[in-house]
Amino acid sequence: KMKPYIDGLMARMTPEEKIGQLNLVSVGFDVTGPVVSKDVDANIRKGLVGGVFNTYTPIAVRKLQEMALKESRLHIPLMFGYDVIHGHRTIFPIPLGLSASWDLKAIEQSARIAAEESTADGLDWVFSPMVDIARDARWGRISEGAGEDPYLGSQIARAMVRGYQGPTNDLTNSTSVMACLKHFALYGAAEAGRDYNTTDMSRQRMYNEYMPPYKAAIDAGVGSVMSSFNDINGTPATANKWLMTDLLRKQWGYQGFVVTDYTAINEMMEHGLGTETQVSALALNAGIDQDMVGEVFLKHAAENLKSGAVSKAQLDAACRRILEAKYKLGLFQDPYRKVSQERAASTLMKPEFIAAARDIARKSLVLLKNERSALPLKKTGSIALIGPLANRQRDVIGSWSGAGDWKQAVSVEQGLRAAAPSLKITYAKGANIADDAQMLERLNAHGGDLDLDKRASEDMIREAVQVAQAADVVVAVVGESQGMTGEAASRADIGLPGQQLALLKALKATGKPLVLVLMNGRPLALPWENQNADAILETWFAGTQAGNAIADVLFGDYNPSGKITATFPVAVGQVPIYYNHKNTGRPYAGVKLDKYKSRYLDVPNEPLYPFGFGLSYTTFTYGKPTLSKATIGPAETLTVSVTVQNTGSADGEEVAQLYLRDMVGSSSRPVSELKGFQKIMLKKGESKTLTFRLAPDALKFYNNDLKFAAEPGDFQVLVGGNSRDVQMAAFRLAAQ
Ligand code: IFM
Repeated sequence: KMKPYIDGLMARMTPEEKIGQLNLVSVGFDVTGPVVSKDVDANIRKGLVGGVFNTYTPIAVRKLQEMALKESRLHIPLMFGYDVIHGHRTIFPIPLGLSASWDLKAIEQSARIAAEESTADGLDWVFSPMVDIARDARWGRISEGAGEDPYLGSQIARAMVRGYQGPTNDLTNSTSVMACLKHFALYGAAEAGRDYNTTDMSRQRMYNEYMPPYKAAIDAGVGSVMSSFNDINGTPATANKWLMTDLLRKQWGYQGFVVTDYTAINEMMEHGLGTETQVSALALNAGIDQDMVGEVFLKHAAENLKSGAVSKAQLDAACRRILEAKYKLGLFQDPYRKVSQERAASTLMKPEFIAAARDIARKSLVLLKNERSALPLKKTGSIALIGPLANRQRDVIGSWSGAGDWKQAVSVEQGLRAAAPSLKITYAKGANIADDAQMLERLNAHGGDLDLDKRASEDMIREAVQVAQAADVVVAVVGESQGMTGEAASRADIGLPGQQLALLKALKATGKPLVLVLMNGRPLALPWENQNADAILETWFAGTQAGNAIADVLFGDYNPSGKITATFPVAVGQVPIYYNHKNTGRPYAGVKLDKYKSRYLDVPNEPLYPFGFGLSYTTFTYGKPTLSKATIGPAETLTVSVTVQNTGSADGEEVAQLYLRDMVGSSSRPVSELKGFQKIMLKKGESKTLTFRLAPDALKFYNNDLKFAAEPGDFQVLVGGNSRDVQMAAFRLAAQ
C-alpha cells in the first residue's frame, strides 16, 4: 500500500515541497553544531521542512506537528529526531562502556528502554547506533562506539538496531523508534585522532576491518543512515557516490534514506569542492536524501534542477525515501499515536528502567587490576574518598546524554554512602578538573592547557593526604570530565588531565592501600597508575545509576565481568594500537638489543591492557581447545570445544573469547581476529565445556580483488579470557 500512497502524494507535490522534505532543521533544547536553524515556523507552514531534531516532549512536538498538519498545504507530518545515544531519560553507560559488558541482551535492552522513553517523549527517530570502529584513543568519539573490533562491533550494531526498532522491525509499534546508523563511513579512522579529519584507507582494509558493523546494521534493517563528516580517499563522505550509492544501495541493498551530519554539505566548501550550489548538487547526486541544518538543498536544489546539475529523478528518489520512512513510522495514519503526556509520565524513568540501568551499568565496569586483595572493600572501617570526580553527578551520565537529568544521577559518593552506612567516608577533592565552561575558557585563552590552577591543586593535595592518612583505604575517583570526551574532544595527551597524577603520587606516599576508580571515555595511558595502584576499576561514564553500580562492584555485591573493547596503550605514541594488527617482516620478539626490529626504543610494543581484558574477584582457567576435525573442507563447519573452570573463591561471569589466525594468505592476515564469544556464569569450582562453531564464512576475508573467500591452508584457533592470554589448537582448510 505504501507505493500507491506515496505516488499519489508526490503527484500533488511541487518541486519546492519535494525539496522541503529534504530539509531537517534543529530547533529547541540543544545545539549540536555551529549553526542554528532560522525561520522554522514559517518554513514548516510553507511545507519546506521534512523533519525536526532537538525538539522533544509531547507538548513541544505537538506544537510543531500541528503546524505542519494544519497549516501546510499538503499536511505532510514532520518526523522528530534526537541524539538518543545511550538512553533517553534513563541514561545507560556510554557506548564504549556498554560494549565492555559483551552482553548483547543487556545492550539490546538499553536500546529498547531508550526506544520506549523516546517514543513516549514525542520522538520518531534516534541518531544511534554509532558503529564507527576506532583504534585511536585520541579521538574523543571513541566513547560513542563499541571499540576496535569488527566482529563484536557488528553484533552490537545488530543488537542496538533490534533494540530501537523492535524485534519485528515494525516502526508503527508504539514502543519502537527508527534508528540511524552513523557515521557512514570510516569516521573513526580520522587521521591523528583529530575529529572531522581525513581518512585515507585501502578498500581491502575498509571491507575487512571497518565496514562490517555498518553492513550488520543495514542487514538488521536500520531505517536511516547518517553520512560522516570526513573525507574518504579524496571525496568527503557526503559527496561520495561510490559510498552512498554503489556500496550502500547497490551492493548492500539498502532501501532507506541518508541524512547528512550537521551542515556536512556546506562544509564541503571548506573541503574545497566548490560553491554552495555545486556542493548541493554533489551531495544529492551522490545519494544523500536529507540535509541536516545546512539548508543547502532548500537554497540551491531548484536552481540545480533548472541548470540540469541534478535531475528530477534524483530529487524524486530522495523525497520518496523520506516519505517512505514517515509512512513506515505510521505518521500518515496518526502522528500522535505514540505521544501523550500520560504515556510520558508513566514511562520516563520508571523504576524498572532505573533498575535495568543499575544492572547494565555494573555489567559494563571493568576491573583492570586487583592486588593485595584491595577489592572488594569492607563496609566497615573508614575510607578516604578522594578526587574531583567522586561527587560529580553531571559527569557520570557522560556526553550525549541530552535529555538525561544529571540531577537524578547517582554520584560515586552517593552510591558508596547508600551501600555502606556504617562505613566512615571522608571526602577530599584533591585536584581540580575542568568542567565544560572552564574547558572552553581555557581552550580559548590558553590554547588547550586543560590544567586548572596548579597552586590551588597543591593545597588540595595536602588536604587529601591528611584525609588519606586517617583512613584504612584510599579510593581515588579520577579521570576525565565528560566534556573531555565525545564530539570535538580529541586529546593528544591521553594520561590523567591536570594535577590528578600528582595527587595519586602523594596518596601513594601515604602507604595506604590505593584503589583507583577511573571515569573516562577513552582508553587512557596509565603506566604509573598501573604500576602503583593496588586496584583499578574502569567505570567509563556509567549513567544514571553509576554510583550505585560502582558501589555494587567495589563492595563485592556484584562480581565484575566487563572486558575492554579498545586496547589501552602504555603511551600515546603507540596509538593506533589494536589487537588485530598484521605482522611485520620484522616482528619484535622481546629480545633485548634486537635493534632492527619493528619496535620502539623507549616503550614496549605491548599495550597496557589488551583487547578483551578484564579481571574478576574469582579466577578462570582455560583448558586446551579441542577441534571436531584436524582438516575441514570449504563447506564444513568446525566445532571448537573448550573447558573453562572457575578456579577462584567466588561465583562469577566470564567472557570466553575465540580468535582465529589464518597462517598464510594471498594477502597478509591479522595475527588474530575475534570470531566468537560467550558470556557465562560459573559458580566457584564449577567448570563448563563451551562449544563454538566456526562456519565457512568465519574463515573468509576480502582479498586483494575484494573477493570474499577462504583460502586453503593452516589456521590457528586461539581461546581465552582476553586477546593475549590464549590457548591454541591448529587445523587445516582443505582445497576440496
Ligand atoms: O547525531 C549528531 C552527530 O553524531 C554529530 N553531529 C551532530 C549530529 C546531530 O546532533
